[in-house]
Amino acid sequence: MFTLISFQLAALLSFIGIRQFCAGQLFNINSVLNELFPEDIYQGQRSRSPICVHDIPSPIHFEEESERMNCYQEVSQRGRSPHPDQNKRTNEVLAAYDYDMVTYDNVITKDGYTLTLFRIRGNKKSPPKIGKPVVLLFHGLGTASDQWVLQYGDRNLAFKLADAGYEVWLANARGTDYSRQHTKLNAERDIEYWNFSFHEIALYDFPAILDVISSETGEENIYFIGHSMGGAVYAIALAEMPELNQRVRAGFLLAPAIFLGHSYSPYRILQPILELPLQMQAMINRALRGRLEGSNPTAFLSPAQLCTPTAMRCDLCGNAIFFLYGYDGRQLNFTNVPNILSKIFNTHSFKTLLHFGQNFRSCLFRKYDYGRRANLKMYGQVQPPSYSLHKIVAPTYIYYGDSDNFVPPIDVATTRDALPPETVQGYSRVNWTLFNHVDFMVAKDADVLVYNGILEILEDYKFGRRK
Ligand SMILES: *[C@@H]1O[C@H](CO)[C@@H](O)[C@H](O)[C@H]1NC(C)=O
Ligand SMILES: *[C@@H]1O[C@H](CO)[C@@H](O)[C@H](O)[C@H]1NC(C)=O
Ligand SMILES: *[C@@H]1O[C@H](CO)[C@@H](O)[C@H](O)[C@H]1NC(C)=O
Repeated sequence: MFTLISFQLAALLSFIGIRQFCAGQLFNINSVLNELFPEDIYQGQRSRSPICVHDIPSPIHFEEESERMNCYQEVSQRGRSPHPDQNKRTNEVLAAYDYDMVTYDNVITKDGYTLTLFRIRGNKKSPPKIGKPVVLLFHGLGTASDQWVLQYGDRNLAFKLADAGYEVWLANARGTDYSRQHTKLNAERDIEYWNFSFHEIALYDFPAILDVISSETGEENIYFIGHSMGGAVYAIALAEMPELNQRVRAGFLLAPAIFLGHSYSPYRILQPILELPLQMQAMINRALRGRLEGSNPTAFLSPAQLCTPTAMRCDLCGNAIFFLYGYDGRQLNFTNVPNILSKIFNTHSFKTLLHFGQNFRSCLFRKYDYGRRANLKMYGQVQPPSYSLHKIVAPTYIYYGDSDNFVPPIDVATTRDALPPETVQGYSRVNWTLFNHVDFMVAKDADVLVYNGILEILEDYKFGRRK
């Protein structure tokens, strides 16, 4: 779910033999940061806002050798042929599995962004009909609706929900390659197009999606399932527009990227960029043309190029996933790695990444930090305000994995504690010690470990056993 650049970084690091680094075993971001950016930069004049300093949790032990052998075995047994879905887009995957699907590619937000939404109306097991309960799935950072169709056969959450009689809607946030149009701006040319983070996705994309759902299905109320950034979108939307709480019957947040102070993912390496003066951040933004492009099969060191030979897949590509999201050798279907890598790197704005970085750095969940003067003008205060999570009243269920390095359990606990107690109707540790950030989509047993539990709760609502 992150960018090609990071993938290349991970690939190169693995390449030059820093295996422990990739496995997350010896990875200590604080020492890396201290080396790159000595103490005084943090303490000095440049610091515009308080920086929290936390002990970073130690990553879970990696039984490297035995896992690599597993991988070799798995790949050699059946890994020669590529996953049949590898080069398919979300809608093509859905069509291949015979789902009755509608594409809405002209959902216009209040600020002019044009989004694409996929609606799964049903299939043979559960034919389309009026009045099905609606579940909206919202993807994480740097990915898109593809993240919900990564697994084999009927294991995917989107499929399970559709088979069980729900209408499933898949969001694609602004900036992803499904949703790159705008009524006035040109995403390729105009850097203003990319002036958004998950804040704007929550404020504009989320309500526009709700409106299309209600006008197309007549359903005013939805169930929401969000992974990672999808959880942040939910929290911001319900906190900033409390009236929307009425339209969410229940929200399920999988590893919500809300509080992130203890994150020990390599993405934390962004932190030094935030120590730079704002003018320099703006320069980097211009150099990147406002965005981090997703994977392009022809790019240098792209997942598609790197992940073909067996050995590469086991040593390098598998490790790239562990490196970025936490180690879990037993739940990763190694033969599926090229397919996963081809789908979890989609385009996102640089500002989104900076906004996450600011939350890493402050250990808070705040609005975007534009610098003192601009903050004062915009927010009436020097520091950006925190989001008012106490305004979230829709019943909310939270899930986390012990081996998640991007949103570690301790930060998920902070999120839980920031919500009103009556709001948190469920708080579940996934019953698998190595469960990592992307396992919510890719783990072989994600159905047993996570999805079935969500389906049970949804059934409770359907039959009035929960309100
Ligand atoms: C980006 O948007 C914010 C508010 O949404 C605005 O204050 C700022 O001036 C914009 N920046 C650029 C470079 O357009
Ligand atoms: C793992 O991948 C193979 C394809 O290479 C597939 O046939 C198998 O069903 C997958 N296993 C699981 C548990 O998803
Ligand atoms: C967790 O999983 C183990 C097996 O992996 C099982 O024995 C145990 O009962 C499970 N615990 C819960 C609370 O489901």
